[in-house]
Amino acid sequence: KGVPVLAVNYKAYPSAFGETGLAIALTAEKLAEEYNGIVRFILAVPATEITRISESTDKVVVYAQHADPIEPGAYTGYLPLEALKEAGAKGTLLNHSEHRIRLSDIDVLVRRATQLGLETLVCADTPTAAAAVAILSPTIIAIEPPELIGTGVSVSKAKPEVVTSTIQLVRMVNPDVPILAGAGITTGEDAAAALKLGANGVLVASAVMKAQDPEAKLLELAEALAKAAEKS
Ligand code: G3P
Repeated sequence: KGVPVLAVNYKAYPSAFGETGLAIALTAEKLAEEYNGIVRFILAVPATEITRISESTDKVVVYAQHADPIEPGAYTGYLPLEALKEAGAKGTLLNHSEHRIRLSDIDVLVRRATQLGLETLVCADTPTAAAAVAILSPTIIAIEPPELIGTGVSVSKAKPEVVTSTIQLVRMVNPDVPILAGAGITTGEDAAAALKLGANGVLVASAVMKAQDPEAKLLELAEALAKAAEKS
């Protein structure tokens, strides 16, 4: 089933920026070294932090949180894929519930990212939306029911059927794409439950970014994923 993925979306939490954002990345880097080949760490960081964090890390995979479907040119305030790559990102999140884009734009962005050698982690809010995205062949898909995001109530426990039907529908279209479960994932148990349902990993935000001790939280999640993957 491959190496399980622990993807952390920094969002725009106060801890996402500057020294605290970097400290979380360095903690993840340490764990990524320890769990090399056992858990794959992805950090989706704010655009302003891509250079700082990617220059200070090696094992964690640094993503942007969004890209705009434009080529570099006269577009004030937009983020073309080329800029993210130049800054050091290895990929980007797309279509997060907090930053939705059209399916036609996801299509363009996934294709252009692939040409540029960038990975894409495309979010979907329902199993059918995930299946629609799957045909575009992104690198990874994440299913996140918006109503559970940031609640601390885990999708893997509260709505396991959303995860299982996503896996079922996506596999009809794309047998290989890794599928992450996200929204409310808080504990190692939540992460293990996602893997048990058949997901290939988790996408988390508040559990890490709002943690008193982000290092302990990252370790808890990584350990649980490693153990659950071993069993499956
Ligand atoms: O992208 C991950 C995110 O939307 C889930 O948020 O805070 O429920 O882990 P959270």
